[in-house]
Amino acid sequence: MKLLNILTAIALTISVASAQDVMQKSMSLMEQGMTQIQKGFLNNNLELIRSGSKLVKEGNSLFSDKKVIAQYLPKDKKHMVNVAENAAKRIELDVNVLELNLDDKAYINAANGYSDILNACARCHSIVRSW
Ligand code: HEC
Repeated sequence: MKLLNILTAIALTISVASAQDVMQKSMSLMEQGMTQIQKGFLNNNLELIRSGSKLVKEGNSLFSDKKVIAQYLPKDKKHMVNVAENAAKRIELDVNVLELNLDDKAYINAANGYSDILNACARCHSIVRSW
């Protein structure tokens, strides 16, 4: 019985720890991606914008499932999971907007896509952090 309790405790710890990893990995990828995109726009380096955009897309895909997002919302904010999920969906759309405009050499529109991604980051963080 005791052993079972210990095993249960270990299993819980591992699952909580790996869930934590998903969020940290996702945020870290998106942070790196956004930094690259910003640097790319400032220095007129298209390759940097493209590689940053890939990182944001990859990071966002790890943290766009409603069930995953819900685990990270504070208890009194669980009812806002749809708004948080929409922020992730908005990032996905914005990344496409950014990339398509880059292909068209419509750099102002591409930069607007970047700004909107930043707004979407803030939208979800405002829920999580009670800003
Ligand atoms: C759907 C919700 C959501 C979206 C969208 C979102 N984040 Fe986060 N972010 C979180 C949560 C939850 C945390 C952890 C709690 C906290 O730091 O307040 C977090 C934390 C972070 C952290 C701190 C990481 C750490 O290990 O403490 C960074 C950096 C970050 N986010 C970057 C970004 C960037 C960049 C974007 C946009 C490209 C973004 N996030 C979009 C939910 C989100």
